[in-house]
Amino acid sequence: MQIGDLSLQKPLILAPMENVTDLSFRLVAKGLGADVTMTEFTAAEALIRQIKKALKKARISDEERPAGIQIFGSRPQSMAEAARVVESLRPDFIDINAGCWVKNHCARFEGAGLLKDLPLFESIVRATVEATHLPVTVKTRLGWDEKSIVILEAAKMVEAAGAKMLTVHCRTRAQGYKGRADWSWLEKVRKAVSIPLIGNGDVVSPQDAKALFDIGCDGVMIGRGATANPWIFREIKHFLKTGSPLPEPSLAERTALAVEHLRSVCAHKECRNPVLTFRKHYAGYFRNVPSFRPARMGLMKIETLEGAVERLQRFLMENPEKA
Ligand SMILES: Cc1cc2nc3c(=O)[nH]c(=O)nc-3n(C[C@H](O)[C@H](O)[C@H](O)COP(=O)(O)O)c2cc1C
Repeated sequence: MQIGDLSLQKPLILAPMENVTDLSFRLVAKGLGADVTMTEFTAAEALIRQIKKALKKARISDEERPAGIQIFGSRPQSMAEAARVVESLRPDFIDINAGCWVKNHCARFEGAGLLKDLPLFESIVRATVEATHLPVTVKTRLGWDEKSIVILEAAKMVEAAGAKMLTVHCRTRAQGYKGRADWSWLEKVRKAVSIPLIGNGDVVSPQDAKALFDIGCDGVMIGRGATANPWIFREIKHFLKTGSPLPEPSLAERTALAVEHLRSVCAHKECRNPVLTFRKHYAGYFRNVPSFRPARMGLMKIETLEGAVERLQRFLMENPEKA
């Protein structure tokens, strides 16, 4: 598949997730086989005002390329200006968020709120496309609720407005994250447009990813499946190539990657105390490891980088790998 000049073969894309997929996590995912990354969504209005926090959130690193910067807003003019601001951060593409389900954003016709006003949605895509030489892509949901599923209309509109890739999270806005993602829509969208289609929602195993490729998706985007198991990208690639599962990572590999990630968030100082915000990642690194439990309880009380690294290394010493 192509996104502008970018050629990609069945890419696995790390989903943008606010407060989760910061630069450090994106680099971990990249190291484990994610082909494309995207920043967390950043408000167009904040980018235009050059708000430091927004610019920091939108920065990408050369190591993670190809990478996109995701922006959101409800004013076409602001999205166009934000696209010009974002160009200076040199992403490979700019993604428009038309899927965020949070009430305040939707009430302002941002995120999934755009699914209630397709003419506005169209103006936003067109204005952004016209403002930049970079490829513009769109990530959205099926519709506002089950009575107003507009994805086929929206997909055609997005393509006609110049978007170079469409990601569909197969839920409605009303669903939030509840219920199952309905992948059957992807087949219909596939027939409706010819731009690359990325399937998203509830991909938690290699078999899930294969199912989406079999439906006709050009790429697969993974969010919570990657936080629950950062190795998922590698596992999917191995499965697609060989048809067999990869063995679980060793305790040494799990510990080393957790330490590397923790050091990275501390080095990048993504928030006030990265050691505290990092706590949400332990479950993913030590998935299916019951012996990690006492260490995890200890880590929930530790507030320093040195303390957390020492506790992780002690866990490894106390749990020698079975040969
Ligand atoms: C904590 C969290 C934050 C999210 N933040 C964003 C975001 O900034 N931009 C976006 O397009 N989607 C965001 N999403 C939605 C995901 O990108 C994805 O569409 C959704 O989680 C479904 O995919 P999954 O089942 O693989 O997680 C977020 C989801 C979660 C769980």
